[in-house]
Amino acid sequence: MSSAKKNYSRVTTNTLIKMKSDGEKIAMLTSYDYTLAGLVDAAGVDIILVGDSASNVIAGHETTLQITLDQMIYHASSVVRAAKRALVVVDLPFGTYQADSKEALKSAIRIMKESGAHAVKLEGGFQEKQSIERILQAGIPVMGHLGLTPQSIYKFGTYTVRAKEEQEAEQLKKDAKLLEELGCFAIVLEKIPAKLAKEVAESVQIPIIGIGAGNKVDGQVLVLHDMLGMSKEFSPRFLRRYADLHYTIIGAVSSYTSDVKSGDFPNDKEQY
Ligand code: KIV
Repeated sequence: MSSAKKNYSRVTTNTLIKMKSDGEKIAMLTSYDYTLAGLVDAAGVDIILVGDSASNVIAGHETTLQITLDQMIYHASSVVRAAKRALVVVDLPFGTYQADSKEALKSAIRIMKESGAHAVKLEGGFQEKQSIERILQAGIPVMGHLGLTPQSIYKFGTYTVRAKEEQEAEQLKKDAKLLEELGCFAIVLEKIPAKLAKEVAESVQIPIIGIGAGNKVDGQVLVLHDMLGMSKEFSPRFLRRYADLHYTIIGAVSSYTSDVKSGDFPNDKEQY
């Protein structure tokens, strides 16, 4: 364990708010399965996000829109079984909370009850006010998500930086304040100018977790498969790759394949 990491028994929403007030940065990563979530948890990440990015990196869809509530619950329950320390947050997938607040609450309850997760995340500001209120009233912690919200990709038309214009930046600041007032325990800010993210982080007491939002926020999140370098296709400026598993895995699998074909594997010691 690194000396920088404090030994919390289980990270809670209160722990995160304390971390912000103590100036301790929050590390968050996605996970979608038991094995990798166990490694991520053991390495000391504070929050594991079962992101709807599973739609992209696990299922191979072009957008996050296709993943279903049942699929999210399947991924989330696998992650929950592995996470001993991290807070597990699960994305409410597209189409499970936008129609009305009653449906939003039902979806959030299914996630909490069937997966054992600790909180939900949903995209949007004032337009989701009623859903957020209703979910919070049921005692379910909510993480907000503003800026680039991938479930609205067909409205934006592109994955470029959001809130560069004054009007959108002002709306984002108001939305962040509203999410805090409603009782959200944290907010993800995705792909917005670093200066704006800093302003938002300074204007609220709850933690702001950035992805492509600079380093003057309270924590960072990345998609696990991206930071492990599993794919070569996705290279935004904000992504730092901490491993090159793309070539490591292809190398290992091609060595295995040639060993099988040459008869080298298994050898005398690798059999009964
Ligand atoms: O689904 C996801 O992985 C996310 C992160 C990019 C924040 O929402």
